[in-house]
Amino acid sequence: MKKKNYCRAGFIGFVLSIVCQTSFLHCVPISGNWEEYRTEVLKEQPNFNGWCPKEKAVSIMNLLLANPSDVCVEVGVYGGNSFFPLASALAFKGEGIAYAIDPWSNEACIENYQPDEKIYKQWSKEDLKKIMHKFVEGMHRNQLDPFYVIMRMSSSQAYHYFEDGSIDFIHIDGNHSEASAVFDVQHWLPKVKKGGIICFDDAQWKSTQSAVKILLSSCQLMSESPPKKQWLFFRKP
Ligand SMILES: C[S@@+](CC[C@H](N)C(=O)[O-])C[C@H]1O[C@@H](n2cnc3c(N)ncnc32)[C@H](O)[C@@H]1O
Repeated sequence: MKKKNYCRAGFIGFVLSIVCQTSFLHCVPISGNWEEYRTEVLKEQPNFNGWCPKEKAVSIMNLLLANPSDVCVEVGVYGGNSFFPLASALAFKGEGIAYAIDPWSNEACIENYQPDEKIYKQWSKEDLKKIMHKFVEGMHRNQLDPFYVIMRMSSSQAYHYFEDGSIDFIHIDGNHSEASAVFDVQHWLPKVKKGGIICFDDAQWKSTQSAVKILLSSCQLMSESPPKKQWLFFRKP
């Protein structure tokens, strides 16, 4: 049953990616002032569900402007609250593709959690299909279709599609259980280029500490959000 669901999700993701890539075909840089453009993006950002504070969105956008961004990945997209600013930075540059990886499935969200945990209860009842459709509609409305591809599948399925050393920027914000966070860091890190950037979210959670430890021991810490260190940026040496 689970396998069948994933196959269908993968197929839907594939079809959506074709639709996304062909529906709007201009890929020229947006002329204009970066600060003004970023301000407009931040005004639109609340129309995308999720949990990306403005300071984090600004950091993501500025890093993408100043660094190579041909291949960008977000693991854990939800309603696009962080993915929208990410893809908007690519649109400003007129180059690069952002891969939106998320199964948008309740099953994946509660994996490795126990039924009595708050997080299990919260994620069991989310209407993730509705969240995904609103995300796709918002991206289309903002003319971002040429700059992103949906991969509606779990992190553990998606990483196979990327070659080692191929990713310029990755935002890891999927399932936050200890096992999944460690899995994500261990399997996505080899996919990042030398000099590529890793943003890791919810780095202050108890369950993400093992994953953070791996990142601290293998990458260079670039910056952390004050005061709680909710998100960290690393550069791969
Ligand atoms: C914390 S939310 C992401 C929030 C979003 N990045 C933002 O800043 O608004 C976590 C997301 O991870 C997704 N997710 C859960 N398990 C996953 C997995 N195994 N692989 C990829 N994404 C997963 C969930 O569907 C959910 O949308």
